[in-house]
Amino acid sequence: MAEPILEVSGLVKHYPLTQGIVFKKQIGAVKAVDGVDFALDKGETLGIVGESGCGKSTVAKMLVNLEKPTAGSIKYKGEDITALSGRALRTVRRNIQMVFQDPYTSLNPRMTVGDIIGEPYEIHPEVAPKGDRRRKVQDLLDVVGLNPEYINRYPHQFSGGQRQRIGIARGLALRPEIIVADEPVSALDVSVQAQVINLLDRLQTEFELSYLFIAHDLSIVRHISDRVGVMYLGRIVEIGRDAEIYDHPTHPYTQALLSAVPVPDPEAREHRERIILSGDVPSPTNVPSGCRFRTRCWKAQERCELEVPLLAVPAEFRLMSGPAAHDSACHFAEEKQVVPPEEPGRQQEEAGEHGNGPG
Ligand SMILES: Nc1ncnc2c1ncn2[C@@H]1O[C@H](COP(=O)(O)OP(=O)(O)O)[C@@H](O)[C@H]1O
Ligand code: SF4
Ligand SMILES: [Mg+2]
Repeated sequence: MAEPILEVSGLVKHYPLTQGIVFKKQIGAVKAVDGVDFALDKGETLGIVGESGCGKSTVAKMLVNLEKPTAGSIKYKGEDITALSGRALRTVRRNIQMVFQDPYTSLNPRMTVGDIIGEPYEIHPEVAPKGDRRRKVQDLLDVVGLNPEYINRYPHQFSGGQRQRIGIARGLALRPEIIVADEPVSALDVSVQAQVINLLDRLQTEFELSYLFIAHDLSIVRHISDRVGVMYLGRIVEIGRDAEIYDHPTHPYTQALLSAVPVPDPEAREHRERIILSGDVPSPTNVPSGCRFRTRCWKAQERCELEVPLLAVPAEFRLMSGPAAHDSACHFAEEKQVVPPEEPGRQQEEAGEHGNGPG
């Protein structure tokens, strides 16, 4: 098999919790990311899903070097990038770009669209010499479905969906290989979400991009992801191919998340089981011992308190090759179909691009 384009091992980000003003004393740590492993293949989309606060954005920020990991490695084409500096770091940063969650706050309101999209060229003039920039920015506007004549307009003159298209154009400016999209549609109206996802889907083929696509809801990443990883309290608890996660989940947390996903088909909805989790997500400053999900898990037993479940194919599935045999960090992993499988016809319909109209 080819080497993954990105490989993350043992990634940790702990923010120190301090007390005192003059003599700061560390009294603990916010364990925002607490041991994350995954690989991303070239041309692939890996969805990362989990409730708010589970550490998704912190993972994203470490990948694009906005945060330094406390521990662990991030390998880009086999080379650990966490220790790079200078020219080598610039080259890597150029190839891993981020699209941010909120297009309302991530675009500078005082800059024109042309300046926003072309800003990365200031740091990487080798990609677009000064005289060539305007044309390059206009090409990018066209590529994301916006009128190239809008180049001198300001962000407030655009709708939310259009602003996210501007954010995507900026992310593409340096022609990266990897895009880390941190909840790129969460702030948008439901009607506009599908258009932006379809745009990302089309751009992936056009520019041979690899995506890390972050969302808080399993339904959003369903049609764009090849594989999906489910995060809980700083760790990935289950990861596998799209069908393995949606149709054959074995981790109780994934099963609970799936049971809350909107099901459009009324008949399927009726047959779906709702799993209501008790209690709140524990604080990342005070992570439960053993399995970190145990305080909310309806299957928890003594072993769950004592022993950390590792992210691997559970022993009971190791000898079989079916869709249940994927990585799941649970001592008592069991296959459970929560959502009835989709009919292929409807899926096709939903995946079609809805044109480049406003939004
Ligand atoms: N700079 C920071 N200092 C302290 N805690 C932080 C910082 N950034 C994030 N956190 C905490 O880390 C946890 C994970 O945050 P985040 O990665 O933003 O989660 P998500 O994107 O999944 O909602 C949260 O509890 C958050 O409050
Ligand atoms: S290891 Fe135990 S507490 Fe954790 S998910 Fe599995 S059954 Fe639940
Ligand atoms: Mg976030």
